[in-house]
Amino acid sequence: MRLWTSIFLLCGSAVSSEFDKGKWKEVKIKQGPVRGYRDSSSELWTFRNIPYATAPTDKNKFKAPLPPPTWTEPLDADGKRIICPQFYWGDLSKDAITQENCLLANIYVPDTEKENLPVLVSVHGGAFQVGYADWVNLMNLMRYGDFILVNFNYRLGIHGFLCLGTADVPGNAGMKDQVALLRWVQENIGNFGGNPNDVTISGYSAGGSSVDLLMLSKAAEGLFHKVIPESGASLLAFTVQSDPLSIAKNHAKALNFTDVDNIQALEDFYKTLPYDTLTADAFLQNTDSTFTFSPCVENDYWDEAFLTKSPLTILKTGDYKKVPVLFGFANMEGDGQNFTVINEELISEEYKNMKKTIREIWHNFIITGTPVPKESSLPAWPAVGVGNSPYMSLGQKLELRKAIEPERFNFWQTIYQKYYKEPIPPPYSLSKTHTEL
Ligand SMILES: *[C@@H]1O[C@H](CO)[C@@H](O)[C@H](O)[C@H]1NC(C)=O
Ligand SMILES: *[C@@H]1O[C@H](CO)[C@@H](O)[C@H](O)[C@H]1NC(C)=O
Repeated sequence: MRLWTSIFLLCGSAVSSEFDKGKWKEVKIKQGPVRGYRDSSSELWTFRNIPYATAPTDKNKFKAPLPPPTWTEPLDADGKRIICPQFYWGDLSKDAITQENCLLANIYVPDTEKENLPVLVSVHGGAFQVGYADWVNLMNLMRYGDFILVNFNYRLGIHGFLCLGTADVPGNAGMKDQVALLRWVQENIGNFGGNPNDVTISGYSAGGSSVDLLMLSKAAEGLFHKVIPESGASLLAFTVQSDPLSIAKNHAKALNFTDVDNIQALEDFYKTLPYDTLTADAFLQNTDSTFTFSPCVENDYWDEAFLTKSPLTILKTGDYKKVPVLFGFANMEGDGQNFTVINEELISEEYKNMKKTIREIWHNFIITGTPVPKESSLPAWPAVGVGNSPYMSLGQKLELRKAIEPERFNFWQTIYQKYYKEPIPPPYSLSKTHTEL
C-alpha cells in the first residue's frame, strides 16, 4: 500500500513567510482587534494564528469545539507555526509548536482597495492523521491577487475522530472544527474585505474528502458556495469509518485495555490517555486502504451531529444542497512518484504551462463558479452528465473527452455492488452507568 507516501509527500514545502514588521494592518473582528503583517515575498497581508474556536480539553477533548476567545488589546497575528497534536512524521512538524488548543486560522489578503473579494478556504490533507493549516502552498495561485485565502488547523487522528456515540465522544470532532471555521468565516471575513456569500472550499486527499463531506452535511449547509475536492471524495475507502465502535475497541485492545465491552470504561480509557499515546500511531501500515480513525456516521441522538447518514445514502437520496463542484483526480493516484514542484524555475516549459493552465481553471472557478467561462480562450467545458461524460483531460493539451475511465468504473461498480458495506454509526449509549428500573 503506497497510498500514504503520496498523501504525505504531495504537499512538499509549506509556506515560508518573511514579515515586514514595519508594515502592519489592523482589522477589527468580533473577538477583538487583530494585527496582520505584510509578507515581503508574496506581497500579501498575512494574519496568522487567529483562534477561530477553542478546543475543549481534558475529559472533554473529543467534544465539539467551543466558542473562540475574545480580547481587547490588538492580537499580534504573526508568530510560529502551531499544530494540533499528531503523529510525529519526520520533518513534517519540524520547527512547529504542538499544542492542544490548536484551532487557529491564517488569513491571506491581497493588497487591494477592492471590497467583497471571493474567499477560498483550503482544507489541508494528511490522511486525517497529520498536517496543519498552511501545509499546502497556494502562493502561486494567490498571485492573481483578487481573492482571500483562509487555511486552518483541525483536530487529527484519534483526537479528532474517535467516535463512540456517547455524549462526551459523539465522533467527528475534527469535522466539527471545520464547520466552526466556516461559521467563523461567515461572521468575520467581511472585516478583511471578503465576501461571506462567495466562499469556495477546496482540499486535496483527506482535505478533498473533507470538503466533499462538508457538501453532504446539514451542519455545514449554507456556509459555502462552491467546492473543489482534489484526489479525495466522500466515498473513498479511508474517508468514513465502517464501524467506529469496533475500531475503537480494537485499538484499545491493541493498547492492552481489556474491558472494551463496557462503554463507560472504554470512554474513560480514551479520555485519560496521554497525547503521546493518542498520537503514537498514524495507521499508515494498514493494508485495507484506511487510516483507522477518520470521519464517522454519528448516531442522531446527540445535538450538532456532523453526519448521521452514510455519504452513499445521502448521494442516492439527493438530500443535500447542490452547489457547483470541480472534482479533480490524477490517473496515477497514489503512485507516489510525481510531486508538485513549487519552485517553477526548476521545471520544463511544458510542465510550467500545465501548471499555469490548471491554476487558471481553479481561479476561474473560484471567481465565477465555472472552470471555463464564456470569454475564456480555453476549450469549452460543459458540466458532467450521465455516464461521467464529458470530462476535461488536463494534460499538455486540454481535451474534452467522453466517459472517464469506463473499464475502471465498471470494475469498481461490480466490486461495490457485491461487497459494499454501509458504514454504521456507533449505537446510542448513555455512557453513564445507569440503573434500569
Ligand atoms: C501490551 O502488552 C504486551 C505484552 O505484555 C507488551 O509487550 C506491549 O508492549 C504492551 N503494549 C502497550 C501499548 O503497552
Ligand atoms: C512522472 O514520473 C515518471 C516516473 O517516475 C517520470 O518518468 C516522469 O518524467 C514524471 N513526470 C513529471 C511531469 O515529472
